[in-house]
Amino acid sequence: MAKFMTATVTNVRHWSDKLFSFTTTREPSLRFENGQFIMVGMDVDGRRVVRAYSIASANHEDELEFYSIKVPNGPLTSRLKEIRAGETVILSAKPTGTLVIRDLRPGRRLFMLATGTGFAPFASLIRDPEVYDRFEQVILVRGARHITDLAYGDAIVAKVREDEYMGEIVRERLVDYPTVTREPFVHTGRVTGVIESGKLFADLGIAPLDRQSDRVMICGSKAMLTDCCTMLDGRGFEVSDRIGSPGDYVIERAFVDS
Ligand code: A2P
Repeated sequence: MAKFMTATVTNVRHWSDKLFSFTTTREPSLRFENGQFIMVGMDVDGRRVVRAYSIASANHEDELEFYSIKVPNGPLTSRLKEIRAGETVILSAKPTGTLVIRDLRPGRRLFMLATGTGFAPFASLIRDPEVYDRFEQVILVRGARHITDLAYGDAIVAKVREDEYMGEIVRERLVDYPTVTREPFVHTGRVTGVIESGKLFADLGIAPLDRQSDRVMICGSKAMLTDCCTMLDGRGFEVSDRIGSPGDYVIERAFVDS
């Protein structure tokens, strides 16, 4: 049986009727790579319910942060969405995952493709100094149904841009491209759609995808992952098929669906 520890919730923020984030205490022994996920759970009616959550805070920070959808009748999130500071959650002892820059071949630009709560690991990765050591430019493409769904990402990007240590490099090298699909907005279309049509590159005034020097990290729903993989495979990009085996792109399959 997997080893679990408890953590105390220190803050909860509701971004909409569907989305919330929370922070918890972090055991000094809990080590992770930015982009990894951990199992988060609660004991609900005497039963332990756990789900995979990407860690949205960076590994140099004292607390852990998580970003969650409120799934209607979801066994975990129905309870988790009610959580308040001072209560406890259960965390697995060993974070893991495939969405790590270690498994990307060297490159010049790094594209981060996220939909929905798939933004969470990028909240961590965009504040990782190593990302900017390894890549000249980071292009964060955040897809959501509605403008309100972008609020958490907006806040994180704004915070990282103002960060005392990281702010300058982030302002220079991180390009943020939020896009929505179900109402008018400055950018519209699916993450895959804006890449395939070339709209992303035209809007940003940057060169199109180049397999030689571009690397990609992807996190979203199963359907989004499948479509992004098909799109990249079709352009000759090679996926990192397992931890420790570098590729042109990495994906994360862990997401909350209950
Ligand atoms: P759409 O509104 O066209 O479904 P969700 O909340 O369902 O995960 O969706 C978040 C965002 O991801 C939405 O903008 C949605 O677009 C988009 N999306 C859903 N499926 C895919 C897919 N297969 N490829 C790319 N984007 C997708």
